[in-house]
Amino acid sequence: MAKKKLVISSGAGMSAESGISTFRDAGGLWEQYPVMEVASADGFRRNPALVHKFYNERRHDLLKAQPNAGHLGLVDLEKDYDVYVITQNVDDLHERAGSKHVLHLHGELMKVRSMEHPERVYQLHPEALDTTPDTIIDGDHVRPHIVFFQEAVPNMEPAVELAHEADVFVVIGTSLNVYPAASLLHYVRPGVPVYYIDPNPAPVPAGVHVLKMGASEGVAKLARILRGQE
Ligand code: OAD
Repeated sequence: MAKKKLVISSGAGMSAESGISTFRDAGGLWEQYPVMEVASADGFRRNPALVHKFYNERRHDLLKAQPNAGHLGLVDLEKDYDVYVITQNVDDLHERAGSKHVLHLHGELMKVRSMEHPERVYQLHPEALDTTPDTIIDGDHVRPHIVFFQEAVPNMEPAVELAHEADVFVVIGTSLNVYPAASLLHYVRPGVPVYYIDPNPAPVPAGVHVLKMGASEGVAKLARILRGQE
């Protein structure tokens, strides 16, 4: 029998227990850095060096981090479900944990792409993580492979399709502040069970099962619920 489709929509809270800062919690990144300077298309035009520096720091943080029990728990659920992860995160912790299907909505930290030929995307090597406006790879200037504010979200269309096809939909660790990602919930078909794992959950429509806890604990509880153990 075909497995059911379990679709996950993850945000920064998914990686919090791996030591990666979230954005909007107290002490989060947007309290420490002016978001429109380091993460917007206008900011990048104004001061590309600052934007490169910001993402260089994020890459070094990521290199030190490991997937947590939440990431690993989602991989374990692949035994029972076809699991598809849609993530707002630019880290690669879902992939490193072993998730087979990961769709990044906001880009990927460990990649850069050509300014001249945007279809040319390059994986950075751990020993050469730092880029500047002068960095040249294969003859091209490069920029972070990140979806800046004010830019379109190219993977939104496949993400909407996945949300619509879900047999179970689970939101983990996002403040549901940033659109269009936050709208995925609205594409889930009526009657499909929806869970939201977050220790400080945002308001969600009635009927969503809120598991008010961190990602590791929440994914473990979700697995027990889905396996009929509670
Ligand atoms: P936020 O920082 O807005 O929200 C993080 C969420 O994680 C909050 O709801 C926290 O309560 C929750 N959280 C904290 N610790 C957690 C834990 N241990 N387990 C589970 N959840 C926990 O991050 P996002 O919603 O992901 O975009 O932010 C969306 C986008 O805004 C990001 O992708 C980024 C940012 O600007 C870009 O940079 C393009």
